[in-house]
Amino acid sequence: MTPFKDFCQYTEPTRVIAGRDLLESTGFEFQKEGARRVFVVTDEVIRATGLVERVEAGIADGGLEVAGVFDQVPQDSSTDVCERCAAAAKEAGADSFLAVGGGSVMDTAKVADAVFTHGGGAAEQEGFFLMPREDDGMGKPLDIAPLACVPTTAGTGSEVSMAAVIKDPERKVKLEIADFPLFPRLAILDPETTRTLPAPIAAATGMDAVTHAIEGYVSTDWSPHQDARSLQALRMIRDNLERAVQRGEQDEEARGNMLIAANLAITIALGSVHAMSHPAGAQFGVPHGVANAIHLPHVIEHNAAGGSEIADRYRDIGDVFDVGEPEIGPALAAYLTELIARLGLPTRLSEVGVPESGIPALVEGAMGDGTTLLNPREMGEEDYAALYRRAL
Ligand SMILES: [Fe+2]
Repeated sequence: MTPFKDFCQYTEPTRVIAGRDLLESTGFEFQKEGARRVFVVTDEVIRATGLVERVEAGIADGGLEVAGVFDQVPQDSSTDVCERCAAAAKEAGADSFLAVGGGSVMDTAKVADAVFTHGGGAAEQEGFFLMPREDDGMGKPLDIAPLACVPTTAGTGSEVSMAAVIKDPERKVKLEIADFPLFPRLAILDPETTRTLPAPIAAATGMDAVTHAIEGYVSTDWSPHQDARSLQALRMIRDNLERAVQRGEQDEEARGNMLIAANLAITIALGSVHAMSHPAGAQFGVPHGVANAIHLPHVIEHNAAGGSEIADRYRDIGDVFDVGEPEIGPALAAYLTELIARLGLPTRLSEVGVPESGIPALVEGAMGDGTTLLNPREMGEEDYAALYRRAL
């Protein structure tokens, strides 16, 4: 039985279009969101695939102008990159942003757009619901320039979320920024964008989507709206993730469905998997999806042992995968560990360069991460230390 909560909030203002041959309509569609002079944000790898040229042609085809292209987003973007991107967009006389890339590119475009619109530094945007508002900060949040996203991985879901996570290189932490204006106005999902995605990246980003769907479903900040999305995301992931990773280029249907599944899975109501993965990324450069894949089974086992209400939430998830054993925590964890191994991903932190001596700093990072507060089981330093040790 689903209880009626004292409070929940659900917002999804992003217009999503999904289908085939959509890149050529980029300008036609983005014009409807107020864009005229579009600043394209991407990375060198994506640019080398020719995808950006096709998007640029699509922008011009709709009668819009490409004001400039910023292709200097690294795999793990940071505050200084966002600031350089914002300055380049200003210099180019842009009035809108279009991100073509994975999570790092999309999050960079979001934060760059906020800096472009409001000025100041990227780190000033940090926090949940702290962006500038009317009425001395109490009223309507101030809009930022129109932003459209063309995701080139199926995982992060940033194209329909109000969150951005970027590194602060000085403090060695991942800054989390979330507020309504960061919802992109438009997301374009076209399986052509993931046609040449390497299998290890398809696997890792796919596991990020799995993690969003599961953490969102069990989070203390769950909502019935997100539940519906999470469960459908998991069904689509169950049916398409392995196909998309193993058959890649030959399986347009699986790639298209994974783009939609990632879209459905995303929420800012996450939990301890993300709390553990953010410091692993900030301190040891572990790719986000890989870190989630490593931590997810351990957190599930820990959380599910925290009471029957939590275990029941995991049972709903187990039903999707036909995992119905009475001890749902270990059973679901074992199922996912096998899936992760089949996808060819690492399953231990020691395989991805995390030493045992790094655990105290990781624990500190996880305790300070905002998502810790949303985990269904209350977490302490000892809990995190034990989980990191188990994942080592
Ligand atoms: Fe994530």
